[in-house]
Amino acid sequence: MSNSIEIQEPKGKLGVLIPGLGAIGTTFVAGVESILRGYSLPYGSLTQMGTIRLGKRTENRVPAIKDFVPISDMKDLVIGGWDIFPDNGYEAAKKAGVLKESDIERVKDRLEQLKPMKGVFDNKYVKKLHGTWIKEGKTKMDLAEQLMDDIRNFKEKNNVDRIVMVWCASTEIFLKQDPVHQSIDAFEKGLRENNDAIPNSMIYAYAALKSGIPFANGAPNLTVDVPVMMDLAKENGIPIAGKDFKTGQTLMKTILAPGLKARLIGLNGWFSTNILGNRDGEVLDDPESFKTKEESKLSVLEYILQPDKYPDLYKDFYHKVRINYYPPRGDNKEGWDNLDIFGWMGYQMQIKVDFLCRDSILAPPIVLDLILFMDLAKRAGMSGIQEWLSFYFKSPMTAPGLYPEHDLFIQLMKLKNTLRHMKGEEPITHLGLEYYD
Ligand SMILES: NC(=O)c1ccc[n+]([C@@H]2O[C@H](COP(=O)([O-])OP(=O)(O)OC[C@H]3O[C@@H](n4cnc5c(N)ncnc54)[C@H](O)[C@@H]3O)[C@@H](O)[C@H]2O)c1
Repeated sequence: MSNSIEIQEPKGKLGVLIPGLGAIGTTFVAGVESILRGYSLPYGSLTQMGTIRLGKRTENRVPAIKDFVPISDMKDLVIGGWDIFPDNGYEAAKKAGVLKESDIERVKDRLEQLKPMKGVFDNKYVKKLHGTWIKEGKTKMDLAEQLMDDIRNFKEKNNVDRIVMVWCASTEIFLKQDPVHQSIDAFEKGLRENNDAIPNSMIYAYAALKSGIPFANGAPNLTVDVPVMMDLAKENGIPIAGKDFKTGQTLMKTILAPGLKARLIGLNGWFSTNILGNRDGEVLDDPESFKTKEESKLSVLEYILQPDKYPDLYKDFYHKVRINYYPPRGDNKEGWDNLDIFGWMGYQMQIKVDFLCRDSILAPPIVLDLILFMDLAKRAGMSGIQEWLSFYFKSPMTAPGLYPEHDLFIQLMKLKNTLRHMKGEEPITHLGLEYYD
């Protein structure tokens, strides 16, 4: 055993602040409450249902992750958030149309208590939405200060020691890095001068990091993926993570592609299309928001298949991703994939995937795990980008100059080895030492 890292105990309540109490936000809260009341189990959550092997296979040490590392108990979560519509959690969950009425009704009292604070919103960054529950302020700095007041009030009112923020609000238009994102001084000047290159999500992230709160980004927005946020995170000892929850079609891609590559099966093309009819789908119907999502979805295969290392198998494969807004489907998305692959002697084959998926059912356990692991990271003194949480993201953030790891199985190994390292256990390499004297 190597030395373990000192980790503060998770004492008291853990606050959770969610910008965006829509489909994912409300399904998350309804799910947590249903689990606490014994109506369901925390399916899909590694922190709640996962185990971790320690030492050699012969040692038979396989504790539950939640018994191995000191994470908060689900019953200690106090959840609040912001939205740009005033609906409480009960009304918003009904509108989102993810859960059956009976599942909403039995946690109605909890959902009704979830009253969003007024959001920071400029429709320039999410063209399809016209919010009615929004803060007023002369400058973006005024708005950031109002968010910091909200955070302070939430902390006092609920008597919480620590808070984590997870962005579950809509996807913003595609933005590139700008000089205003390069340093804290430039960014703060930009906030005071209402610089256009600072979207809503960055105002929340700035407020979180200035308040000492870890920030995880569930959308593909640039948000914390810029130098100023990395500097703020490092300076104040705060973990950040992102971006874009890995659910649905991309989850399938990062399960299938590593398998094809492991067997050196070639790929000519991968065509992916989706129909979905929820608000996320409506927002993504705007070409500028779609561009942000498309960039996030497209990068996955390049990194897993490494065409530069395997040109005979993967050079010039054709990759196309489509998202079609189709209201009749509501939240029950359907994603089709067609893979044109080839094997021995170049013979062609095809794989068809038809995933009748529910994105807002796949995302909440990710939200839960991120909250608990980001809080753990903070208590373990880990700051800046948490690459070990790449497992949860379509477009994992990395330290500058590194490429992201997309293979789900490598990501899981990295996550578990990080937990082992925190506790002073040896990483598991699967090396076959039994063959040697
Ligand atoms: N559903 C998934 O599985 C999935 C997967 C990956 C990423 N995402 C991303 O997660 C986000 C949430 O998805 P969803 O399905 O819950 O969408 P949704 O549209 O149901 O919910 C988003 C909520 O954010 C609110 N909002 C928008 N801008 C805001 C702001 N500036 N401040 C506060 N609230 C704001 C909207 O009013 C809405 O209620 C989206 O960006 C989506 O692209 C979703």
